[in-house]
Amino acid sequence: MRSEFISQSADDTIGMGRNLAARLTPPVLVMLSGELGSGKTTLAKGIVSGLGVGREEEVTSPTFTLVHVFHNHCRVYHVDLYRVEDFHDLETLALEDVLGEPAVVIVEWAERMTLRTDWPAVYVHLEHVDGDTRRITISDFWEEAAGPPSLSQAKEKA
Ligand SMILES: Nc1ncnc2c1ncn2[C@@H]1O[C@H](COP(=O)(O)OP(=O)(O)OP(=O)(O)O)[C@@H](O)[C@H]1O
Ligand SMILES: [Mg+2]
Repeated sequence: MRSEFISQSADDTIGMGRNLAARLTPPVLVMLSGELGSGKTTLAKGIVSGLGVGREEEVTSPTFTLVHVFHNHCRVYHVDLYRVEDFHDLETLALEDVLGEPAVVIVEWAERMTLRTDWPAVYVHLEHVDGDTRRITISDFWEEAAGPPSLSQAKEKA
């Protein structure tokens, strides 16, 4: 199923993250794609607070640590693959261990997730419309959520 939402503010996007959290049952991957500043981390704040495992302000764009873990009644990982360039980089994150036990795993720059898993996934694609307006597409399928951003777009940020 594909759903499309228009967010008018960061708070709106956080609210959408909270709503999405209510639909998540571990094990599940939340694959976030979309250009720089489209709101992936903002949505992750809503998901983490909605799941009741952390506060919004604890969810930040990782600088050195690429994997943040939140823990309460369930384990929630926030992974940012922005700096991941190849499979070797991905391996250093030890995501196989993360995927060893049921959890909610939120992945930013999900198009760089080359590790295959049979975990169910929700794909969320975020796009700038204008100003503070974002289009947020949620689907059970990658292609339906918008498909991977072009490589050139991913490179712009690198
Ligand atoms: N409707 C909106 N939804 C989400 N963020 C918004 C919205 N309007 C404005 N913003 C602002 O846009 C920025 C989004 O930043 P955020 O870090 O969430 O993006 P990102 O997709 O994670 O970027 P990056 O690719 O660098 O990880 C924030 O400063 C936020 O306040
Ligand atoms: Mg981010």
